[in-house]
Amino acid sequence: MMSKESSLSSRRSPQSPDSSAATDDWKKRKQPSIWCKISHHIFSSSFFITTTGKFLAVVSLFLISLLGVFLTKSRMLACVSSSLNYGSELQGSDLNGFDFGSLGTPWCRSKQGQSVDWKTKDLLKGLEEFVPIYETRPIKNNMFGMGFDHSFGLWFMAQWLKPDLMIESGAFKGHSTWVLRQAMPVTPIISISPRHPEKYLKKGAAYVDANCTYFSGKNFRDFGSVDWKSVLKEHGISDMSKVLVFFDDHQSELKRLKQALKAGFQNLIFEDNYDTGTGDHYSLRQICDQSYIKGGGHSCYRNGDEARIRSERKSLWEKAVDIEELCGEGNAWWGVRGEMRDDFNHSNKAISYKEHFENSRFVESVLDVYWEVPPVGGPSLTRQTRYDPGRTPAPIIEDGRFGLFGRLGLSALDSSVFNGYTQMVFVQISQSTT
Ligand SMILES: C[S@@+](CC[C@H](N)C(=O)[O-])C[C@H]1O[C@@H](n2cnc3c(N)ncnc32)[C@H](O)[C@@H]1O
Repeated sequence: MMSKESSLSSRRSPQSPDSSAATDDWKKRKQPSIWCKISHHIFSSSFFITTTGKFLAVVSLFLISLLGVFLTKSRMLACVSSSLNYGSELQGSDLNGFDFGSLGTPWCRSKQGQSVDWKTKDLLKGLEEFVPIYETRPIKNNMFGMGFDHSFGLWFMAQWLKPDLMIESGAFKGHSTWVLRQAMPVTPIISISPRHPEKYLKKGAAYVDANCTYFSGKNFRDFGSVDWKSVLKEHGISDMSKVLVFFDDHQSELKRLKQALKAGFQNLIFEDNYDTGTGDHYSLRQICDQSYIKGGGHSCYRNGDEARIRSERKSLWEKAVDIEELCGEGNAWWGVRGEMRDDFNHSNKAISYKEHFENSRFVESVLDVYWEVPPVGGPSLTRQTRYDPGRTPAPIIEDGRFGLFGRLGLSALDSSVFNGYTQMVFVQISQSTT
């Protein structure tokens, strides 16, 4: 599955300094209709928020929905495909060429600027397949676990990469184990979690997999303490490029990255890739938030543009971070208020900007690919109110595409399943050559 030749393209990401190729690619793409542009602009820029407020946001959301319904009915909605044949419309899209919103978002630089080889049309095709699967999930209420966006991301990548072994750290009631199983029906899974998912069966829905080795209960061992050499040998694994490791254990991603690298793993997915100022563990996105990266680095100046924009966005999006939440003592903004969090916020360490900066250089030196799963739909579609769409990659289905969203069966899902998006990320890593 995962030889670099087959699973990666050699395009440079636009976040790298030399982004001309990506810019050209973006220009070649079919431009969205005015309707798409207006709705996308409204939800991803501060223009809307600066000139109105919460009240107008709600009114406009309603009007946009109404307009969407009208346009759909009158077949004027050029940006919504008239059937599920969306392929030609989106052919050649480069998933990295987004407008990251008025604040911008950092994007980790990889060694050679490689990216993934799937495109928006592949994600849309995947959604068509995944929605009916998701409807059969055994755990309908997965509060504290993954919602729709990340379940889809995990399923999509697992079925695309076709690993020979899947490892997960952090299982909770077993929803993510179930997702991995839907992607790869017969592939062995190793699941690491202090509490065995079967324990949850006593209280309600849970998922226990028949072809899964559980390092749980009295067999629990932390990912960093497992003798991977012998475990992989037991599973007949000799090619590490055929192993996919999924982390949803709320541990410092720097720690996990180093442990994975030491054991020789190459393909990793981190579920909670928290934005700067949020979350209970130091994430790759936080680490890469550096002023030399487009959209990275922050100003704690209380009367500055960033403070104003953040406060405006906070009034719309529950989990947006305002300047008071962003900046700690001595105007430390990196990590969470200058702290490197770990282990569900139980073990936090203040770090200097120098350490934070060095961490980013280390991460860049081992990254071959960095790719954040986009949200499945814009907020007018998903009706999510928690995360700020100005700090995420552009959604797979952009605002206003009510027809496509409905035809894929997504509007039938409870809107609460779209609230838990935290920039799940796929990375490929290899030892630093420098
Ligand atoms: C957010 S939940 C996982 C949710 C699950 N992946 C899902 O989608 O439903 C985090 C899980 O990590 C477990 N956990 C805590 N410390 C851990 C560790 N050191 N290694 C692995 N899992 C850990 C917790 O017990 C909990 O079950």
